[in-house]
Amino acid sequence: MADYETIEHDVLVVGAGGAGLRAAIEASAAGVSVGIVCKSLLGKAHTVMAEGGIAAALGNVDDRDNWKVHFADTMRGGQYVNNWRMAELHAKEAPDRVRELEAWGAVFDRTPDGRILQRNFGGHKYPRLVHVGDRTGLEMLRTLQDHGIHRGIEVYMEQTLLTLLKDGERVVGAFGFDRERGRFKIFRAKAVILSTGGIGRAYKITSNSWDCTGDGHALAYHAGAELIDMEFLQFHPTGMVWPPSVCGLLVTEGVRGEGGILVNKEGKRFMFGQIPENYRAQTADNEEEGWRYTQGDKNARRPPELLTRDHVARCIVREIKEGRGSPHGGVFLDISWIKQRIPHAAEHIKRKLPSMYHQFRQLANIDITREPMEVGPTTHYIMGGVHVDSDTQMSRVPGLFAAGECAGGINGANRLGGNSLSDLLVFGKRAGEFAARYARENKLGAVNSAQVEEAARRALEPFDRAADMRGEGPYAVQHDLEEMMQDLVGIVRREDEMLRALEGLDKLWKRARQIVVRGNREYNPGWHTALALPNLLTVSEAIARCALERKESRGAQFRDDFPNKDDALGKVNIVTSKAPDGSMQIRRERIPEMPAELKQVIAEMT
Ligand code: FUM
Repeated sequence: MADYETIEHDVLVVGAGGAGLRAAIEASAAGVSVGIVCKSLLGKAHTVMAEGGIAAALGNVDDRDNWKVHFADTMRGGQYVNNWRMAELHAKEAPDRVRELEAWGAVFDRTPDGRILQRNFGGHKYPRLVHVGDRTGLEMLRTLQDHGIHRGIEVYMEQTLLTLLKDGERVVGAFGFDRERGRFKIFRAKAVILSTGGIGRAYKITSNSWDCTGDGHALAYHAGAELIDMEFLQFHPTGMVWPPSVCGLLVTEGVRGEGGILVNKEGKRFMFGQIPENYRAQTADNEEEGWRYTQGDKNARRPPELLTRDHVARCIVREIKEGRGSPHGGVFLDISWIKQRIPHAAEHIKRKLPSMYHQFRQLANIDITREPMEVGPTTHYIMGGVHVDSDTQMSRVPGLFAAGECAGGINGANRLGGNSLSDLLVFGKRAGEFAARYARENKLGAVNSAQVEEAARRALEPFDRAADMRGEGPYAVQHDLEEMMQDLVGIVRREDEMLRALEGLDKLWKRARQIVVRGNREYNPGWHTALALPNLLTVSEAIARCALERKESRGAQFRDDFPNKDDALGKVNIVTSKAPDGSMQIRRERIPEMPAELKQVIAEMT
């Protein structure tokens, strides 16, 4: 084997977003040596895009809130295919994780009597989202970084991992390269935690940044771990639709939490006509009551704009399809209307939603204190991810852990807004704790030189092909993938379209294997894109295959050809794994029976 630079840690964390940082802090506190590898620069992680808040049942704004209500909301939002144990741990532990973050220096907005303020978000029964204006993810990252930096955690920025290294069944590190110089590196570790976030870059319209290419999902899958729930992809109802250069950019649910309303081109607040039966008792059917709810009236019901994201996104799509959309193919989101209700509304909006104010002012020349925004659904979050043990976050591959968006289970068929920031704190901590424990109980494994050389050879293939100057570059392939996934495996799905998507994926795989990259290995974006493509193709195939297998509509998966729920499918998760012949295999896994006491909680709280 060539003489590659080799770095050793007890625990290697892949990804420096909230989950990765929280995991690294915990592992380091347990006394093991920790390295974090990230593809971008520290502080640039996609966690900043969870703008509106962290869901945690502190009960500061409404003292009726507690972990049981949060648990029941999460299960109902996920349409009961969630990993109930994860949902339970999450609801119970989120408040402590928030208080801990505050003790580490996070500065949250306050109630008039000085407690942490909480705002309304879709699907949460009570105001539950701890926030800092609309910059909560940013504050979380800042705090975790500041806290982590003093713990002696080593950070390796701008690194791409190509494969997880295995010694027998066990994961014993990773092999990759630094993006700046293109030099290969071996990271040896006793345990590896994947916290690489999402897969949004497989779609044309997405809130996700360039680095959300499903790396952790794909690394785990190829290392023999299973993926779960990959059919459940969340389309956030409100992304920017105009101008085209920023199409998909997130417009926080915090806008609706602060009283923003959705209106079609006829000026109609269309969500009033779209209240599903199971939310009717909790949802206002008139403007007056919805407004009172946003102003803290405990006897009022929530406005219909705060129904769950899957439902709101579908209603927006319907308005647009039926010709009642806005000029640029969205609908209107209006927060300026609150000037009819409160004095100094413009100042209030700027204080509560400073990023939104600047985002629209600078990017779309819209003053949101005076005029409505144009918004439409944007690919935001994947509920599916690495199949992990609920308590330890270890996958079915020994030594391989996952946390945050790249781990699956907690959210079921649909995630409630704000549950991602609390998820990554709760399960980042758990992953760090149990990975450290695993690392103390195991020695470093052996590096398989054949595996390393094979990964290096494959990574350099696009340059080798450049010699004959034929073949296409990676960007056209990625572009065609994004278009196809958006069109054929999007918000509304049909069997014939998804079968076409699978055929299309087959062709894209073939093109990806022939990609040509010119130039050298030093900061070569074409090369980086070429190497991310197999990850995007892997997760896209998993999404399409699982969506085909789930012949029903549930949460974020809406099947035009199977518009109803199927009780039998409500008892299973769809699990994806790599067959010995390299093909992707899908199986149904029965959801374990929920203990009676948790069933009781749901019955009482819903
Ligand atoms: O709308 C938002 O601020 C996004 C939050 C989330 O996805 O949790």
